[in-house]
Amino acid sequence: MDLPYAEPFRIKTIEQIYRSTKAERERWIKEAQYNLFNLRSEQVFVDLLTDSGTGAMSSAQWAEIMLGDESYAGASSYYKLKDTISDILGFPHFLPCHQGRAAENVLFSTLIGVGDAGAGKVVPGNSHFDTTKGHIEFRKARAVDCTIAEAFDTEADHPFKGNVDLAKLEAVFKSHPREAIPVCMLTITCNSSGGQPVSMENIKAVSSLCRKFKIPLFFDSARFAENAYFIKQREKGYAKKSIKEIVKEMFKHADGMTMSSKKDGIVNIGGFIAFRDEALWQRASTFNIMFEGFNTYGGMAGRDMGALSVGLRESTEYDYLEARVGQVAYLGSLLTNAGISVQRPYGGHAIFVNAKKFLPNLPKEEFQAQTLGIELYKEGGVRGVEIGTLLADRDPETGKERYPALELLRLAIPRRTYTNAHMDYVAAALINVNERAQSIRKGYRIVWEAPIMRHFTVRLAPAR
Ligand code: F0G
Repeated sequence: MDLPYAEPFRIKTIEQIYRSTKAERERWIKEAQYNLFNLRSEQVFVDLLTDSGTGAMSSAQWAEIMLGDESYAGASSYYKLKDTISDILGFPHFLPCHQGRAAENVLFSTLIGVGDAGAGKVVPGNSHFDTTKGHIEFRKARAVDCTIAEAFDTEADHPFKGNVDLAKLEAVFKSHPREAIPVCMLTITCNSSGGQPVSMENIKAVSSLCRKFKIPLFFDSARFAENAYFIKQREKGYAKKSIKEIVKEMFKHADGMTMSSKKDGIVNIGGFIAFRDEALWQRASTFNIMFEGFNTYGGMAGRDMGALSVGLRESTEYDYLEARVGQVAYLGSLLTNAGISVQRPYGGHAIFVNAKKFLPNLPKEEFQAQTLGIELYKEGGVRGVEIGTLLADRDPETGKERYPALELLRLAIPRRTYTNAHMDYVAAALINVNERAQSIRKGYRIVWEAPIMRHFTVRLAPAR
């Protein structure tokens, strides 16, 4: 018999979590005004709100915390990280930032400009993450989504649903002057389309198209290691290559990258921008010094840079990724086997439950994915996050709701944090909700909302 995967680590430290009662949860979610972000973490048993900054560090990373050099300039921890970024990712220059969106702020200030400098400009890519899009639109530029059509069909079985539709990208390049396209952003894996990877073939094709039109290509690399794992698993010619070889090859095609280190860096906070071109690094460093900090710390403590340098090495180990992505697929198959519709193939960091199919008797005006999230919390103290109408915000011009094609409940799995028994528990809770799904006919209405990014702070009440 082939031996199954098992985590290539054992547990040295544990953190207690409280298993509450249903009556407590019903009270807490009401007090939280039916917004899962308003719950205190002690009120959550299994927290699948995000895989960002919620992973468990290794003993080698904790050792780096003690070794952290907190010098303002020239800290040894900075040089450790610089060497790792050069070794693993192949970039000679980098700027540390406090997290991924800070990296976007610095990069776009450099490439798009500040204030309204983006007016008339476009940044094409594959389903840009919200903060990426936010930073583009804040500068009055436009994010153009060139993802392949298969990405929007949750059940279409395509191995690389993060891929860019090359014809769409070329059309954007051809219909704008060169100066109107400051950069092309490729997100690996693509969070907004369900943690879906981009193939090496597509990376290469996007890169050569960018070269042809002289457009710089940057990767949003938050989950780059999971992307490399999928290439090894699914793409012809890569089965025998190591993850580190695949990672090197992926980044060879980019001019630079932004990173939220809270994902595949397996640290609790941090980010960076890496560059091939020294002159561009130099230009960006002025913004980094203004917004983040001096070039050798840029918003990160020395200890965190040390831990990140170890995290990047650990997350690009095959055995780790096999268990990591394997755990996500484990939860996915428990749900699929129970007849629950989830995004296929399973993503690298999360399972996305199709709330429209789950709650067929609930009108979309009453927030299907949010309602499902609340039901799952009440059932088992499991917290997911709505990727649906609340997240989509209203149309800024008409003030009307923008109903997205997909209403999803994302169950994001923190790295090295929960066991498969937790996954069994989550699946059982969702299956219980599914058994009474036909009778869930009442959702929620908005009592108060912010003008943008409302999902974080929205206050809700039962609809009727
Ligand atoms: N890019 C991607 C693909 C992301 O998923 C995120 C964050 C960011 C950039 C921004 O990074 O949070 O460090 O500022 N995603 C988190 C999530 C918040 O829950 O998916 P950040």
